[in-house]
Amino acid sequence: MKLLEPIKLANLDLKNKMVMAAMTRSRADKNGVIGDITVQYYTQRVSAGLIISEAINISEQAIGSPFTPGIYTEKQVSAWKKVTKSVHDNGGLIFAQLWHTGRVGHSIDRNGVLPVAPSAIAIEGVQHFTSQGLKDYEISKRIDKSRN
Ligand SMILES: Cc1cc2nc3c(=O)[nH]c(=O)nc-3n(C[C@H](O)[C@H](O)[C@H](O)COP(=O)(O)O)c2cc1C
Repeated sequence: MKLLEPIKLANLDLKNKMVMAAMTRSRADKNGVIGDITVQYYTQRVSAGLIISEAINISEQAIGSPFTPGIYTEKQVSAWKKVTKSVHDNGGLIFAQLWHTGRVGHSIDRNGVLPVAPSAIAIEGVQHFTSQGLKDYEISKRIDKSRN
């Protein structure tokens, strides 16, 4: 099957054309640090030609949902290094998907701080998954252009 044949992607040699889509797992601790279960999860999937990680918060301000991992503290980075080492040692390739969730977040899981976005507009028609159940979206805080 061609799907299972190797392919070159830029400077990477993928052993097959199966690329695992990014899937948020919400298995980090409250500090955004992943544990052994995440090392196991990605290692179990090294038969894919390429793994795209779950979305990873680039800063505290980027956090949208509870128990999503980060990659901006020493502890978070060290924890991810266990994943990349294990994936590489087992013949896999992995990319990190980085995110900032903008207004798709809730102050409940942001130490009481409102989500920031280009405009101060709340999302309507759906609710947000928080550590305290589904909640209506709040009006986001508009990012101050002068600070950019
Ligand atoms: C549980 C779950 C978590 C997901 N988390 C992410 C994510 O962190 N980042 C992302 O870009 N997409 C995420 N997605 C979307 C998937 O990567 C994928 O794009 C989506 O399931 C549609 O795939 P398809 O186009 O092959 O049907 C998630 C999907 C699911 C089901």
